[in-house]
Amino acid sequence: MKSRRIELVARPDGIPELEQFRLVDVDLPELEDGQILVKNLAMSVDPYMRRSMDAVATDMEPWPIKAALDGPAIGRVVESKNPQYSVDDLVESMSGWQEHFVSDGDEFIAYISSNTAIVKRELAGSLKPKDYLSLLGVASQTAYFGLMCGADMLAGETVVISSGAGTVGSIGCQIAKINGMRVISSAGSREKVAWLLNDIGVDEAFNYKERAIGDALEQACPNGIDLVLENASPEHFSACLPLMNEMKTLLIAGMVGIYSSGGKVKNIDNFEYVLDSFLRIKSYPFMEFLDSYDKFVADMTNWHDEGKLVVKETMFDGLQAAPEALRSLFDGNSFGKVLVKLAD
Ligand SMILES: NC(=O)c1ccc[n+]([C@@H]2O[C@H](COP(=O)([O-])OP(=O)(O)OC[C@H]3O[C@@H](n4cnc5c(N)ncnc54)[C@H](OP(=O)(O)O)[C@@H]3O)[C@@H](O)[C@H]2O)c1
Repeated sequence: MKSRRIELVARPDGIPELEQFRLVDVDLPELEDGQILVKNLAMSVDPYMRRSMDAVATDMEPWPIKAALDGPAIGRVVESKNPQYSVDDLVESMSGWQEHFVSDGDEFIAYISSNTAIVKRELAGSLKPKDYLSLLGVASQTAYFGLMCGADMLAGETVVISSGAGTVGSIGCQIAKINGMRVISSAGSREKVAWLLNDIGVDEAFNYKERAIGDALEQACPNGIDLVLENASPEHFSACLPLMNEMKTLLIAGMVGIYSSGGKVKNIDNFEYVLDSFLRIKSYPFMEFLDSYDKFVADMTNWHDEGKLVVKETMFDGLQAAPEALRSLFDGNSFGKVLVKLAD
């Protein structure tokens, strides 16, 4: 059988360029006993993938050149020689960037198992397959686990969340509001700031490209900052430090702003505030809290169904659009969760 996948042909210097990828036809092998053929319905693009494009390993292995890539995907079983899987089963995997893949049916454990490992997912209630990459995807898990399991969210206290119009940021803002916090957020365009204020309901939002971050935060946080969820940059993180109340926590989900420039953290020249105010800095992988996955699914689907939480999605169409979808995360064009539709 014929299928198609995207391969990396060159490593970038800066943000990803479309010519660093190519779309290739591939022949899939006949299924052996125990194997499953999966047709991907949708795939996710995520900021960590820019780091996978470099030759140096980070928390992930570098992507290979001219070979299959990895990334979150949701698909359907279209052929099965494995008694544990039936045709039409919905399965999540790390086998994105391709239209079909063959799995040995080994168990999917996020970022630990092989790329072709799979886990069955159910469509309870109003869930659609792509929701396993957005509402219930890795970025949503990162926002939920960080705030619900990795920090104290006290009603009335102030939380600052960067990249507020991204997935971790926008989900994080809403979870913090649900928990009664005063939410301050930032984003890189007026449209995103207006969305944060009007649709997401944050208390204050500012455009970090138009205002000095420190000044904007000082104005928005007259009682100081009690919690930070950092997604964006060392500059944003550093601007929070002088405003932190004593013994409070800064969660670091990531810093998308440094991934295209070698991943080095610069521009934090005020670390003494960490010492003076006894601050807690917590960088965490979402996998740390997978024991709470079932509660995560229950809370997120309930909040979504009750209208307390929205997920903004930008859907690119077709495998050929995946490089452009990835690039949008770094040129400021992405809004909310960026997905690529691969099949109906
Ligand atoms: N710890 C974990 O297990 C885990 C898991 C998933 C994600 N993460 C991390 O969580 C963070 C958010 O992830 P996400 O999936 O929700 O991505 P995201 O925030 O949607 O990332 C894309 C957005 O980042 C912003 N951005 C790009 N370059 C920037 C720069 N130089 N400075 C500031 N902002 C910039 C842009 O928004 P603007 O227009 O607002 O600039 C862009 O639309 C990332 O750092 C990611 O690596 C961590």
